[in-house]
Amino acid sequence: MTDRNFSGSVRYMDRARTLIPRGVTSSRRAMLRPTPLVFNHAEGSRITDIDGNTYVDYVAGYGPMLLGHQPEPVITAVQKQLTAGVLYGGQHEAEGELAERIIHMVPSAERVLFNVTGSEADQASVRIARAATGRKAVVKFEGHYHGWLDPLTANGPGSAPGTGPSPRPVQTASYNVVGPEILVCPWNDVEALADLLSRRGADVAAVIMEPVAVNGGNLWADDGYLAAARELCDEYGCLLIFDEVVTGFRLAPGGAQQRLGVVPDLTVLAKALGSGFPISAVVGQAKIMRVAETTVGHAGTYNGNTLAVVAANATLETLETNRDAIYPRLETLSASLAKGIREQADKHGAPLQVLQAGGLLRLHWNAPTPVRSYADSLAGQTKPLQDFSEQLIKRGIHARETGLWYISTVHTDADIDQTLRAVDEALAETVATRA
Ligand SMILES: Cc1ncc(COP(=O)(O)O)c(C=O)c1O
Repeated sequence: MTDRNFSGSVRYMDRARTLIPRGVTSSRRAMLRPTPLVFNHAEGSRITDIDGNTYVDYVAGYGPMLLGHQPEPVITAVQKQLTAGVLYGGQHEAEGELAERIIHMVPSAERVLFNVTGSEADQASVRIARAATGRKAVVKFEGHYHGWLDPLTANGPGSAPGTGPSPRPVQTASYNVVGPEILVCPWNDVEALADLLSRRGADVAAVIMEPVAVNGGNLWADDGYLAAARELCDEYGCLLIFDEVVTGFRLAPGGAQQRLGVVPDLTVLAKALGSGFPISAVVGQAKIMRVAETTVGHAGTYNGNTLAVVAANATLETLETNRDAIYPRLETLSASLAKGIREQADKHGAPLQVLQAGGLLRLHWNAPTPVRSYADSLAGQTKPLQDFSEQLIKRGIHARETGLWYISTVHTDADIDQTLRAVDEALAETVATRA
């Protein structure tokens, strides 16, 4: 099972490192062992590298491939659009169609602004909040990730990145400029937020959070926390922003806000929206988004590029039309994968916890039980997870070394069975090398 050959990837990476820093186009990709892999094909739930190794894929392009690779309706729409032009530098009707779909699906959406990446749309949401409130400060939460652009990369308590509990999951260095207006608060702690807002509330334009702390450990908020945060924002006149870059369209057709019943003022959407074509959006109430008609500039050469927009229309149509089948199945399949991994962990005595939120799993190694906070998540060990992911890759399972797994709507029961057989062997190996 482990006689896979990665020589083509190794050779390519040796050359790429002389051309591209670390040989990769997003820093974390350099962490993959036995080598960062070099791919040339992906279809359905599978991805293939240049050495001809095929993997069951749980990286899913870092999340966007909710419908799997090459979903037929998306590819057909994009192929058709290719012969009609890629970038007009002007409007096209599919943009309005997409805005309408998003408004129909996402509870907080009355107006929609399109961008290209999640990071950009997060920045746009903050700018809108500042313009709408006339205030500057922004509250963000420990371990929550809002893209790699400077002002939002602060990760630790009240501090610049790199000086908090840890720069994970953002590989921030001390070169990032954060500024004193970003206030970092512990999440899922009503008192901490109430205390911060009681002191600084009058300066705070927005409170931004991942409504499920995916990057902080894949944590659900305690019952009532999101509603309390909503109330505190109303009390102090701050806007509540949900970063649903990961959870949007994945946890439910209308995202975490629909599933959890708390509606923010602004929402950031990306990943699953475009099935891999780069597109993001900031959505919100008309009365807030109005600043984008007056004081807030919003720009981007590639905003509304036709391929991404038609891909997003096809994606949302597929999700909406098949919602009754897709979402329950994604939940069940992900739960059975999580359960299977837990059973294998018990069998091998591996100190592994698996936290599930819809079609998202996060594995924690040797972390406090149960993992309930970002601090617990940070207390887990990273090296065994990296070893485990290496052992999985050697057995045909592509899973990130961070332990964050994305399940797609096209993973099959057979994929899960194959994965659990590999997990069995990979855990045995990982535990044995640590003994
Ligand atoms: C919650 C969240 N927000 C924002 C981003 C940034 O999105 P992008 O990588 O498209 O800039 C990410 C990326 O993983 C994310 O997980």
